[in-house]
Amino acid sequence: MSRWIIVSNRLPFSYDEENKKLKPSSGGLVTAIRGIKTKEEVLWVGSIPNNVPKKLVRQYKDQDNISFSFPDLDKELYDNYYNGFCNDVLWPILHYESESVKFSNERWEDYIRVNQIFANHVAKVAKKDDIIWLHDYQLFLAPKMIKEINPNLKVGFFLHVPFPSSEIWRHLPVREEILEAMIHADLIGFHDFAYLRHFVSSVYNLLGIHSSLLEIRSPHNNTKLGVYPVSINTQDFISKASSKKTAKAIHRYGLDIGDRKYILGVDRLDYSKGILYKLEAYQSFLRENPKYVGRVQLIQIAVPSRTDVPEYIKLRHDVERLVSEINGEFSEIDYIPVKYIFNSVSVHDLMALYRASDILLVTSKRDGMNLVCLEYIATQDPKDPGVVMLSEFAGAASTLSHATIINPMNIADTAQKIKESLEVKLEERKKRHNIMFDYLKEYTATTWAGAFINHLKKKTLESNPKLQDLSQQAKFEKLKKGFDKKRRVLLLDYDGTLTPIVNDPSAAVLKPRMKSLIKKLQKRDDTDVVIITGRDSNFISKQFEGIECYLACEHGAKFYDYKNKKWRNLVASSKKEWFSQATQIIKEYTRRTPSSFFEKKNYAIAWHYRNSPQDFGEFQARKLVIDLESGLSHLPVSVIMGKKVVEVKSIEANKGYFTQWFASRYVEKDQKLFSIGDDRTDEDMFRALEANGETVKVGTPEKTSAKNYIEDQGDVYKLLKELFLD
Ligand code: UDP
Ligand code: G6P
Repeated sequence: MSRWIIVSNRLPFSYDEENKKLKPSSGGLVTAIRGIKTKEEVLWVGSIPNNVPKKLVRQYKDQDNISFSFPDLDKELYDNYYNGFCNDVLWPILHYESESVKFSNERWEDYIRVNQIFANHVAKVAKKDDIIWLHDYQLFLAPKMIKEINPNLKVGFFLHVPFPSSEIWRHLPVREEILEAMIHADLIGFHDFAYLRHFVSSVYNLLGIHSSLLEIRSPHNNTKLGVYPVSINTQDFISKASSKKTAKAIHRYGLDIGDRKYILGVDRLDYSKGILYKLEAYQSFLRENPKYVGRVQLIQIAVPSRTDVPEYIKLRHDVERLVSEINGEFSEIDYIPVKYIFNSVSVHDLMALYRASDILLVTSKRDGMNLVCLEYIATQDPKDPGVVMLSEFAGAASTLSHATIINPMNIADTAQKIKESLEVKLEERKKRHNIMFDYLKEYTATTWAGAFINHLKKKTLESNPKLQDLSQQAKFEKLKKGFDKKRRVLLLDYDGTLTPIVNDPSAAVLKPRMKSLIKKLQKRDDTDVVIITGRDSNFISKQFEGIECYLACEHGAKFYDYKNKKWRNLVASSKKEWFSQATQIIKEYTRRTPSSFFEKKNYAIAWHYRNSPQDFGEFQARKLVIDLESGLSHLPVSVIMGKKVVEVKSIEANKGYFTQWFASRYVEKDQKLFSIGDDRTDEDMFRALEANGETVKVGTPEKTSAKNYIEDQGDVYKLLKELFLD
């Protein structure tokens, strides 16, 4: 049975020297991965601090299906990799602080070495069908290194931090090496579309590889891309927050006494979290609103992080200086405006703080996602929830629809919004919380991991090692021989197969040379031709005027039987309900996307974006598919993404259904089927012919169920002629 091998820089615990036990380590990555509930067997590979007794790690079990494994790493090498390269080069550049990058070749070389040690370890422990899931920037080089050792392993990579604009990424001396190593993965995931877009443009600008927002085709691999915002184990947070232990902690700290209001900050002490902005905004709020002095307290948990790195040492100093300044300015005998804790806190203490505070204040300058705000929502009392103030620079801002969004660099505005948030009425708070709470109950860490792993599994199913390249003479001869002296039925796709793809669909007319070939083929006693296309019947009848052959238009919804000279509608379901809804959604996208247009057919609506700006067009197309799929999920339609086109159509309008229907009624036992096509819709036809036909994809050999392929549409004429006429 296959396992998940999760690989991250560190295992999810550190060592508590005093109590001689392992304790959970901090950070969003650990929270997210620990939050996944799966029945699959999981092996988690990561480093452990030197002081941890190895025996304790080997014995550690927190769930039956998870075990841990760690490579041996020399302390000095690890320090140079972790503090030197990960935290002093990669972290700042990924968080737009390229001025702080302290690159050296020595650090880079140690980063390479440690990635190689991880890769060797993973390749050693992995079994044939295991799925490797690499996490975060500490392991950027591992996809390539693992594939070099064992190309058959499935490798996914998820980035937990932002990917910066390519203008920033360009500053890194080893920018190409890292991108090139990453795109060896089978799937790369990000929290947000913005990060994915930046990554794709860096790959284009620096490696010259053009790709869509869905995949990168490079000489190394066909790498899928995706957006999977991370989440938390919501149920676990709900139960902990409403537990007796949490209630006791609230009481113990007196958080439920009096009418003081609490603003909470929970951050690793990291410059990306914008803690100085938070303090400045709070200071300004107190200055502007003296009536709140004595009535509001900021509780700031600053979890110690990367304490050996100079930038972090300096930040601690700056934060503590400003905390003292504010406390000096506003403290009273019985009041401290900022309670500052430079430590991590226990789970129930954290729950108590979340539950008892009125505002959570997140002021990140850049933050991949920010799980603290999700945790805050999950832990609120739905009858009296607090308000989330969230930086627009945190990935979570794209998923939390009802947070109060702030630009933390605008100190005056943040101060003003603190006041407004303290004064939001209960009904309004409940309404906002309820919507985000419902979302988190549905979308958890398990949903996140499931989506990523399923995509990765699907990607590997899609590659077909038995695919034959028909440009090789021997493969071509073999296919030709299979049709020798046999009666045949040829199912021919139109756009991208019989004619090249052009910018204006109405200009894709059938060339005389191809038309005459089809006429000749159809005239033969041993051959029947079926044109099988997404086009409507008017256009296709015109192109094939004068040829007596079968025409299956709109993906088989409308069929012309040339022997009876009759058109037939093959769609039984009603389009009444979905057609107008789909038109409305598609019209809206047409309005927003320059140079896009739509085409109404009898049983389908197609939205074309071939003339739109490439990246934006792909982005909109992906969103349109999601909108159509969710908006029309209860209706008899299917939504497909073809080449520069999104199409919504009656469920029966499908080349696969049509092929089966046609084969069962029109094809005789001694006839052999052949089909050729270039598009995703043709894949349904290829699958329908898996057992009893020959299939050819026009285009690159990835992601197809066809048995053969030719790369170039320009070779289709020659192929058909030599196979069936000569
Ligand atoms: N956290 C922790 N110990 C603490 C306070 C917080 O482990 O004393 C956890 C917190 O619950 C959250 C994580 O640290 O799950 C922080 O994740 P986030 O995504 O907000 O930021 P990151 O630290 O990953 O940048
Ligand atoms: C962020 C990073 C993680 C990292 C965590 C804690 O969440 O994305 O990769 O593990 O911070 O940082 P640390 O350096 O202590 O592992």
